[in-house]
Amino acid sequence: MKLYKNETNRAVESKRIYNDIEETLALAALDVGGAATQTRKLAKKKETVLILGAAGKSGLLCCYEAKKAVGQDGKVIGLVRNKKSKDILKYTGFCNEIIVADAKNSNQVLNEVLRVNDGKEVDICINCVNAESTEVSSILPVRDEGIVYFFSMETSFAKAALGAKGAGKDVTMIIGNGYTKKHDDIILEDLRECDTLRTIFKNLVD
Ligand SMILES: NC(=O)c1ccc[n+]([C@@H]2O[C@H](COP(=O)([O-])OP(=O)(O)OC[C@H]3O[C@@H](n4cnc5c(N)ncnc54)[C@H](OP(=O)(O)O)[C@@H]3O)[C@@H](O)[C@H]2O)c1
Repeated sequence: MKLYKNETNRAVESKRIYNDIEETLALAALDVGGAATQTRKLAKKKETVLILGAAGKSGLLCCYEAKKAVGQDGKVIGLVRNKKSKDILKYTGFCNEIIVADAKNSNQVLNEVLRVNDGKEVDICINCVNAESTEVSSILPVRDEGIVYFFSMETSFAKAALGAKGAGKDVTMIIGNGYTKKHDDIILEDLRECDTLRTIFKNLVD
């Protein structure tokens, strides 16, 4: 928490936030920005990234960074839970595929991911769902030796560890560190460079 406050204070003091981005918008983005900046570090060109909770605040930022990271030959799959969120996410153009599913339903999530990804598992899953019991849904669609990044605070260590064991999945699981070096610069730059991201993120915050 101390690190987060220092990082935010640094941004405030250097006046990088408030000249062109509203304070509430900037602080909300910095609160969840760790997920997107970790996504940027983890995702590589041509990879397929699945984002659970893709139309929420952290999910939206992750979709944006994932799209940039995987490039034209990669794929971003966003998971949302209703048509309204699907329509909003579709409008952004950040995802190649959008699936509507309950993130607590691991069979449904796996089947939907395989359906839109030519029967293949994904390289990375980023969990941004603000609900418990979504660990197995994050693990099942990921290929062996792929990565699962749990940003959600609802994540249970036991459910993740035992879920992976039960499913026989040799995946690397990462706890969502809320801090990444330069995450303030990266997230504020995202908001500056993409009007669509900024507008939709603002709607989520207001
Ligand atoms: N690791 C860290 O350092 C850190 C820092 C900040 C926040 N977090 C955590 O990150 C998580 C996400 O935060 P956020 O601010 O991005 O939340 P948010 O804006 O509320 O987004 C969460 C999204 O998850 C969706 N969702 C909820 N239940 C679902 C289900 N069963 N199936 C499919 N989608 C579902 C929500 O859909 P609806 O809109 O339809 O409800 C929403 O779009 C929270 O757990 C938060 O505590 C972690």
